[in-house]
Amino acid sequence: MQYSQKVLDHFMKPHNIGTMENPSVTATEGSPACGDQVTFYLKINDDSHVIEDISFQSYGCASNIATASIVTDLVKGKTIEEAKDISWKDATNELDGLPPVKMHCSVLAVDTLRLAIKKYELEKGLKEPEPFSKEAIIEELRSIIYPQAGEDIVTLKMVKYVRLDDDGTVVIDLDIPRFDQNRESVVEEVKEHLEKYPEVKDIQVTLA
Ligand code: FES
Repeated sequence: MQYSQKVLDHFMKPHNIGTMENPSVTATEGSPACGDQVTFYLKINDDSHVIEDISFQSYGCASNIATASIVTDLVKGKTIEEAKDISWKDATNELDGLPPVKMHCSVLAVDTLRLAIKKYELEKGLKEPEPFSKEAIIEELRSIIYPQAGEDIVTLKMVKYVRLDDDGTVVIDLDIPRFDQNRESVVEEVKEHLEKYPEVKDIQVTLA
Protein backbone atom coordinates (compact mmCIF):
# COMPACT_ATOMS: atom_id res chain seq x y z
CA MET A 1 0.00 0.00 0.00
CA GLN A 2 1.35 3.40 -0.97
CA TYR A 3 1.48 6.01 1.81
CA SER A 4 2.51 9.64 1.49
CA GLN A 5 5.64 10.84 3.25
CA LYS A 6 3.45 12.88 5.62
CA VAL A 7 1.50 9.79 6.68
CA LEU A 8 4.75 7.97 7.34
CA ASP A 9 6.17 10.92 9.29
CA HIS A 10 3.11 11.22 11.54
CA PHE A 11 2.99 7.44 12.01
CA MET A 12 6.66 7.17 12.95
CA LYS A 13 6.64 10.28 15.17
CA PRO A 14 3.07 11.08 16.16
CA HIS A 15 2.39 14.53 17.60
CA ASN A 16 0.56 15.00 20.92
CA ILE A 17 0.41 11.32 21.79
CA GLY A 18 -0.48 10.00 25.24
CA THR A 19 -2.93 10.64 28.04
CA MET A 20 -3.56 14.00 29.75
CA GLU A 21 -3.99 15.01 33.37
CA ASN A 22 -7.30 16.66 34.16
CA PRO A 23 -8.69 16.99 30.65
CA SER A 24 -11.91 18.95 30.16
CA VAL A 25 -13.30 16.00 28.24
CA THR A 26 -12.28 12.66 26.75
CA ALA A 27 -13.93 10.49 24.13
CA THR A 28 -13.25 7.01 22.84
CA GLU A 29 -14.70 5.59 19.66
CA GLY A 30 -14.32 2.25 17.93
CA SER A 31 -14.53 1.69 14.22
CA PRO A 32 -17.27 -0.74 13.18
CA ALA A 33 -15.24 -1.24 9.99
CA CYS A 34 -12.20 -2.73 11.71
CA GLY A 35 -12.74 -2.78 15.49
CA ASP A 36 -9.86 -0.40 16.22
CA GLN A 37 -10.16 2.39 18.81
CA VAL A 38 -8.95 5.91 19.39
CA THR A 39 -9.22 8.19 22.45
CA PHE A 40 -8.88 11.98 22.47
CA TYR A 41 -8.15 14.13 25.54
CA LEU A 42 -9.02 17.83 25.28
CA LYS A 43 -8.31 20.79 27.54
CA ILE A 44 -10.78 23.53 26.63
CA ASN A 45 -10.90 27.07 27.98
CA ASP A 46 -14.38 27.41 29.51
CA ASP A 47 -14.61 31.13 28.63
CA SER A 48 -13.16 31.34 25.14
CA HIS A 49 -13.89 27.69 24.17
CA VAL A 50 -10.42 27.48 22.68
CA ILE A 51 -8.84 24.01 22.63
CA GLU A 52 -5.71 24.79 24.60
CA ASP A 53 -4.32 21.27 24.60
CA ILE A 54 -5.14 17.97 22.97
CA SER A 55 -3.63 14.50 22.95
CA PHE A 56 -4.62 11.06 21.77
CA GLN A 57 -4.06 7.35 22.15
CA SER A 58 -4.70 5.08 19.19
CA TYR A 59 -5.19 1.35 19.05
CA GLY A 60 -5.55 1.60 15.31
CA CYS A 61 -3.42 1.29 12.22
CA ALA A 62 -0.79 3.61 10.76
CA SER A 63 -3.47 5.65 8.94
CA ASN A 64 -5.43 6.17 12.11
CA ILE A 65 -2.36 7.19 14.10
CA ALA A 66 -1.32 9.59 11.35
CA THR A 67 -4.79 11.13 11.05
CA ALA A 68 -5.24 11.50 14.81
CA SER A 69 -1.81 13.11 14.98
CA ILE A 70 -2.54 15.65 12.26
CA VAL A 71 -5.98 16.36 13.74
CA THR A 72 -4.33 17.37 17.02
CA ASP A 73 -2.11 19.80 15.08
CA LEU A 74 -5.09 21.19 13.18
CA VAL A 75 -7.30 21.89 16.17
CA LYS A 76 -4.87 23.01 18.85
CA GLY A 77 -5.50 26.70 19.46
CA LYS A 78 -8.81 26.68 17.59
CA THR A 79 -12.24 27.21 19.11
CA ILE A 80 -14.53 24.21 19.36
CA GLU A 81 -16.71 25.77 16.63
CA GLU A 82 -13.73 25.93 14.28
CA ALA A 83 -12.64 22.41 15.23
CA LYS A 84 -16.07 21.00 14.42
CA ASP A 85 -15.70 22.22 10.84
CA ILE A 86 -12.65 20.03 10.24
CA SER A 87 -13.74 17.02 8.22
CA TRP A 88 -12.03 13.69 7.61
CA LYS A 89 -11.39 14.93 4.06
CA ASP A 90 -9.55 17.99 5.43
CA ALA A 91 -7.44 15.68 7.58
CA THR A 92 -6.60 13.30 4.73
CA ASN A 93 -5.81 16.25 2.45
CA GLU A 94 -3.39 17.55 5.08
CA LEU A 95 -1.72 14.14 5.00
CA ASP A 96 -1.46 14.33 1.18
CA GLY A 97 -4.07 11.59 0.89
CA LEU A 98 -4.71 8.05 2.08
CA PRO A 99 -5.45 4.88 0.10
CA PRO A 100 -9.26 4.53 -0.44
CA VAL A 101 -9.48 1.41 1.75
CA LYS A 102 -7.94 3.42 4.60
CA MET A 103 -10.32 6.40 4.57
CA HIS A 104 -12.42 4.88 7.36
CA CYS A 105 -9.37 5.20 9.66
CA SER A 106 -9.46 8.95 9.13
CA VAL A 107 -13.23 9.03 9.74
CA LEU A 108 -12.65 7.27 13.07
CA ALA A 109 -10.22 9.97 14.19
CA VAL A 110 -12.41 12.92 13.19
CA ASP A 111 -15.64 11.35 14.50
CA THR A 112 -13.99 10.78 17.88
CA LEU A 113 -12.86 14.39 18.06
CA ARG A 114 -16.42 15.52 17.25
CA LEU A 115 -17.81 13.19 19.89
CA ALA A 116 -15.48 14.74 22.48
CA ILE A 117 -16.60 18.25 21.54
CA LYS A 118 -20.26 17.21 21.64
CA LYS A 119 -19.78 15.69 25.12
CA TYR A 120 -18.18 18.92 26.31
CA GLU A 121 -21.00 21.04 24.86
CA LEU A 122 -23.64 18.87 26.53
CA GLU A 123 -21.81 18.80 29.88
CA LYS A 124 -21.41 22.60 29.86
CA GLY A 125 -24.99 23.21 28.73
CA LEU A 126 -23.82 24.82 25.49
CA LYS A 127 -26.29 22.73 23.55
CA GLU A 128 -29.39 20.67 24.17
CA PRO A 129 -29.48 16.95 23.41
CA GLU A 130 -30.92 16.61 19.92
CA PRO A 131 -33.94 14.36 19.43
CA PHE A 132 -33.09 11.25 17.44
CA SER A 133 -34.34 11.65 13.88
CA LYS A 134 -34.07 10.44 10.32
CA GLU A 135 -31.54 13.24 9.72
CA ALA A 136 -29.36 11.90 12.55
CA ILE A 137 -29.43 8.47 10.90
CA ILE A 138 -28.36 9.92 7.55
CA GLU A 139 -25.58 11.85 9.28
CA GLU A 140 -24.38 8.62 10.89
CA LEU A 141 -24.42 6.86 7.52
CA ARG A 142 -22.03 9.54 6.25
CA SER A 143 -19.40 7.92 8.48
CA ILE A 144 -19.53 4.68 6.50
CA ILE A 145 -16.91 4.58 3.81
CA TYR A 146 -17.30 2.38 0.77
CA PRO A 147 -13.77 0.92 0.66
CA GLN A 148 -13.29 0.70 -3.07
CA ALA A 149 -14.11 4.35 -3.63
CA GLY A 150 -12.83 5.88 -0.38
CA GLU A 151 -16.06 7.90 -0.16
CA ASP A 152 -19.08 7.65 2.12
CA ILE A 153 -22.18 5.71 1.10
CA VAL A 154 -24.49 8.76 1.27
CA THR A 155 -22.31 10.83 -1.06
CA LEU A 156 -22.06 7.83 -3.39
CA LYS A 157 -25.90 7.73 -3.48
CA MET A 158 -25.95 4.14 -2.26
CA VAL A 159 -28.55 5.06 0.36
CA LYS A 160 -31.88 5.07 -1.45
CA TYR A 161 -34.34 5.25 1.40
CA VAL A 162 -34.31 5.85 5.15
CA ARG A 163 -37.26 5.64 7.52
CA LEU A 164 -37.53 5.88 11.31
CA ASP A 165 -40.74 4.48 12.78
CA ASP A 166 -42.23 5.53 16.11
CA ASP A 167 -41.41 2.13 17.61
CA GLY A 168 -37.68 2.62 16.91
CA THR A 169 -37.54 0.51 13.74
CA VAL A 170 -35.10 1.83 11.17
CA VAL A 171 -35.66 0.84 7.54
CA ILE A 172 -32.86 1.44 5.05
CA ASP A 173 -32.64 0.55 1.37
CA LEU A 174 -29.17 0.35 -0.11
CA ASP A 175 -28.17 0.20 -3.75
CA ILE A 176 -24.84 -1.59 -4.06
CA PRO A 177 -23.77 -3.42 -7.21
CA ARG A 178 -25.01 -7.04 -7.05
CA PHE A 179 -21.65 -8.78 -7.39
CA ASP A 180 -19.77 -6.36 -5.20
CA GLN A 181 -17.71 -8.17 -2.56
CA ASN A 182 -18.35 -5.36 -0.04
CA ARG A 183 -22.17 -5.66 -0.09
CA GLU A 184 -22.55 -7.69 3.08
CA SER A 185 -19.82 -5.89 5.02
CA VAL A 186 -21.46 -2.51 4.30
CA VAL A 187 -24.79 -3.85 5.60
CA GLU A 188 -23.06 -5.08 8.76
CA GLU A 189 -21.41 -1.71 9.21
CA VAL A 190 -24.73 0.10 8.86
CA LYS A 191 -26.17 -2.08 11.63
CA GLU A 192 -23.18 -1.60 13.91
CA HIS A 193 -23.27 2.17 13.46
CA LEU A 194 -26.96 2.38 14.37
CA GLU A 195 -27.03 -0.19 17.17
CA LYS A 196 -25.26 2.22 19.50
CA TYR A 197 -28.32 4.49 19.62
CA PRO A 198 -30.68 3.44 22.44
CA GLU A 199 -33.60 4.81 20.40
CA VAL A 200 -33.01 2.19 17.69
CA LYS A 201 -34.89 -1.02 18.49
CA ASP A 202 -34.72 -2.81 15.14
CA ILE A 203 -32.75 -2.29 11.93
CA GLN A 204 -34.00 -3.58 8.60
CA VAL A 205 -31.58 -3.16 5.69
CA THR A 206 -32.51 -4.26 2.19
CA LEU A 207 -30.18 -4.42 -0.80
CA ALA A 208 -31.35 -3.50 -4.27
FE1 FES B 1 -8.63 0.14 11.83
FE2 FES B 1 -7.21 1.73 10.29
S1 FES B 1 -8.21 2.24 12.14
S2 FES B 1 -7.73 -0.34 9.91
